[in-house]
Amino acid sequence: MTTAIRHQVGTVLMEASTGTDLASVRYLRHQMTAVLISDGLADMVDAATLLAAELLTNAATHAHAPDGFDPCICLRVCRESQHLLVEVFDPDPLLPRPRQSDADEEHGRGLAIVEALAEDWGERSLAKGKVIWFVLSLAACRASACEKGT
Ligand SMILES: Nc1ncnc2c1ncn2[C@@H]1O[C@H](COP(=O)(O)OP(=O)(O)OP(=O)(O)O)[C@@H](O)[C@H]1O
Ligand SMILES: [Mg+2]
Repeated sequence: MTTAIRHQVGTVLMEASTGTDLASVRYLRHQMTAVLISDGLADMVDAATLLAAELLTNAATHAHAPDGFDPCICLRVCRESQHLLVEVFDPDPLLPRPRQSDADEEHGRGLAIVEALAEDWGERSLAKGKVIWFVLSLAACRASACEKGT
């Protein structure tokens, strides 16, 4: 799994692989929260875990492992001096399709939330699957946390 994700940036704070059930998504989200807090990045927890949960839930619900591949999700969190890079790997080569959801539709907004809140995001095809990633700015998260008084 580690070698499947390329273009590593900064210091790896966390890298974990799980199955594709929603309990695993919750586990990864909790682990990520703990890691960010212990690394002094509590101001990033809300935004980072919200967006990671969207990508992890997508990997758990939409990705289908091709024959011969184990269904799995890998989450990697890397810190650069002023940014956090979060990558979610799944073994399905099919790339996400951002949707325009109607006001009364319950779903179809996950990637729009990532687009709205992340400083940048994207996708990268790999030999065995893909990575969807986003970047958050530490300064922006600190400013937002100050505004909220947290
Ligand atoms: N990891 C993935 N692998 C394959 N297809 C994906 C993946 N992530 C998203 N998609 C596709 O992109 C579409 C848009 O994803 P998005 O997260 O915006 O909406 P959603 O998951 O359908 O709904 P919501 O996130 O609001 O519950 C999905 O409906 C799915 O078809
Ligand atoms: Mg979604």
